[in-house]
Amino acid sequence: MPTNPLRDPRDRRLPRVPEPCALVVFGITGDLARKKLLPAVYDLANRGLLPTNFALLGFARRDWGDVEFSELARSAAREHARTPWREEVWERLANSVRFVQGSFDDDNAFDELASNLAELEGTHGIGGNAAFYLSIPPAMFPTVLKQMARTGMAESTPDRWRRVVVEKPFGNDLQSSRELNALVDSVFTADDVFRIDHYLGKETVQNLLALRFANELFEPVWNGHHVDSVQITMAEDVGIGGRAGFYEKTGAARDVLQNHLLQLLALTAMEEPVEFSAEEIRTEKLKVLRAVSVPEDKARFAVRGQYEQGWLAGQRATGYRQEEGVSPDSTTETYAAVRLGVETRRWAGVPFYLRTGKRLPRRVTEIALVFKRAPHLPFAPTDTEELGHNQLVIRVQPDEGMTLKFGSKVPGSVMEVRDVAMDFLYGEQFTEASPEAYERLLLDVLLGDATLFPRNAEVEASWAVIDPLEDFWAGTTPYSYRAGEWGPRAAEDMLAAEGRQWRRP
Ligand code: BG6
Repeated sequence: MPTNPLRDPRDRRLPRVPEPCALVVFGITGDLARKKLLPAVYDLANRGLLPTNFALLGFARRDWGDVEFSELARSAAREHARTPWREEVWERLANSVRFVQGSFDDDNAFDELASNLAELEGTHGIGGNAAFYLSIPPAMFPTVLKQMARTGMAESTPDRWRRVVVEKPFGNDLQSSRELNALVDSVFTADDVFRIDHYLGKETVQNLLALRFANELFEPVWNGHHVDSVQITMAEDVGIGGRAGFYEKTGAARDVLQNHLLQLLALTAMEEPVEFSAEEIRTEKLKVLRAVSVPEDKARFAVRGQYEQGWLAGQRATGYRQEEGVSPDSTTETYAAVRLGVETRRWAGVPFYLRTGKRLPRRVTEIALVFKRAPHLPFAPTDTEELGHNQLVIRVQPDEGMTLKFGSKVPGSVMEVRDVAMDFLYGEQFTEASPEAYERLLLDVLLGDATLFPRNAEVEASWAVIDPLEDFWAGTTPYSYRAGEWGPRAAEDMLAAEGRQWRRP
């Protein structure tokens, strides 16, 4: 395609629009596709960020025609879209929606998919470019990948790109993720594989890089000389919804700690990349993940929990073992907390406390840097009774923003110092709402920008952190906590043992 000589890719006024292409979604009838992917496609179209020549193909077992599929896609997009609904935008999209029915081991269905793609090249000018989104259970990956290899669909050539998007969890331990990586790499070239960790698509997470590396203010204190500890929390008030089948086999550590929380840790702890490129950012994150140390005393510093019946926002919540599809003597954890170290000059000795859980009091994700106390306080002890540790809190969600907590004099005739908070809120500072993580990530896949996608080696380094914890927990029963509480008592004790406590987000 001829390029426009007046168009400079660095010009921020020009939207980044992908080349003509198709998006093929395997598992199009699943939850993720309905709640996130289809709405994201609509939102991108609505924002004018999809190429004019674009096609959407859904692949699933259900016996549907293009019309039924298009209707499902429309109602899913309409229900969950972030941007206002415009029928004309959807109608334009709907013209290039196709559905292919079949099971993953059905050769004919894959042949049909390949011929559909080839046909769309002519009718819709998609230029042969296609991204394949595997929104399917990990156990199905090998079958689908082999089908793609067999039909030649995975092959990028100088005239067309073919990319694959793989949802987490990527494997369920180091060994299986290695096998999976080897399999994916045997079908697609490394640059064409996009591993999704949707936390990296969140604005607030990307802002960590801006906060740290575009400012002078924070970096000088961003180290073990000044930071006492780091707390990374991802709390959810919801339970497991209809995902018992998946969750029973996965648990909180594999579902969230292995990916979202370790990626947040990596971005918090990494060194400055030599340039803002996918390669350099991923290199720095990998160095951190490789430097993570797992506690020796796991009984104290690696805690699992499982929610029991309780109350949340005035509503009774059932216990995990009573959820539909969950075994009544399940030992799957719905909460995990661990104290990790980062063995580098910058962070040696600073504990990184990570925790995640379902049915906690509220939905909140945050990264908190808790600073050391001032080495000397020239006040009477009673003056500073109300003074805590300085804290810098990055609120990933909700109320996206940042809070700086520090001591300030209380107005009056005595020197009384108390904690105050200074807030930055995205919603107040910027008029434009942040795109959804999947919107950003889908767009990046179609553009071929891998900056926000973890590399193979990162995924493996993350499993190397999780495996010893899982080994330690194997055969044990998680502590229980009531739905609506901040996790089991043992997680409080874990911090109390070192004279600290969890922040109440
Ligand atoms: C997913 C997990 O990766 O993230 C879910 O599998 C979890 O269990 C979800 O609920 C949370 O995402 P978000 O963006 O709502 O914080």
